[in-house]
Amino acid sequence: MNSIPSNRQLWNRISGSYQQKHDAQIGAAPRLWGMYSIPDAQLHALGDVTGKRVLELGCGAGQWSRALAAEGATVVGLDLSEAQLGAAAGATGAARYSLVQGAAEHLPFADGSFDLVFCDFGGLSWAPPHLAVPQAARILRRGGRLVFNVASPWFEACYDEAASRVTTTLQQDYFGLNTIAEGDGATSYQLTYGDWVRVLRGAGLVIDDLIEPRPDLGTPNGYNETDPADWAHRWPAELLWVTHKP
Ligand SMILES: C[S@@+](CC[C@H](N)C(=O)[O-])C[C@H]1O[C@@H](n2cnc3c(N)ncnc32)[C@H](O)[C@@H]1O
Repeated sequence: MNSIPSNRQLWNRISGSYQQKHDAQIGAAPRLWGMYSIPDAQLHALGDVTGKRVLELGCGAGQWSRALAAEGATVVGLDLSEAQLGAAAGATGAARYSLVQGAAEHLPFADGSFDLVFCDFGGLSWAPPHLAVPQAARILRRGGRLVFNVASPWFEACYDEAASRVTTTLQQDYFGLNTIAEGDGATSYQLTYGDWVRVLRGAGLVIDDLIEPRPDLGTPNGYNETDPADWAHRWPAELLWVTHKP
């Protein structure tokens, strides 16, 4: 399935409203992970990036890329959507890193050219992982790391489409989650735990950790309604994979 044209169209269409709604939260401080803006200082997923060659896969308006460039990394922000790249280019501090239009499915970089590839609900949520993970592995140098945050199967399986909120009732089959229709042919992707392990190991990566970010009680979800409000304090809403290329 080729979701590149429809995902590009979707993100071009929603970029303005998405940034209006979420930019302040995503960029409120450097290194905030996911729907609950949990600081990396708490999760320790990314490590020191000083002097490293870093690629953000699906950088959106570049809030993460900007922050890592300011820490002394040489950063490339890749995104499929020209509207999202426009938002990144227009943001303060954008001059400190490069922006490239491209798809996580076909990365336009040489083998072994990055020390760190990462994303937060980016290319590994919006491109088929069985294509995007081997691409990311290919462009990492030996010892380089792939770190990424995606929604958990729990969160997706409990998402009630009709009510537009996450509940405590299983709504979708766990084994049928693979693709999630986002409207007008746009698609996001979700694997089972076993399939993530197989895709990562199949691309030659070593899994160092699977962090399950847990928001403190009362932390708001900036993207989705949950019922109960403390859903993600009780069940894992996100998976933060930490891997490296041996
Ligand atoms: C939810 S945003 C993630 C960016 C940022 N971390 C954020 O939270 O806003 C998803 C991004 O992935 C991009 N995207 C969608 N499909 C992609 C693909 N196949 N390859 C690379 N980026 C893609 C979108 O254009 C969008 O900017």
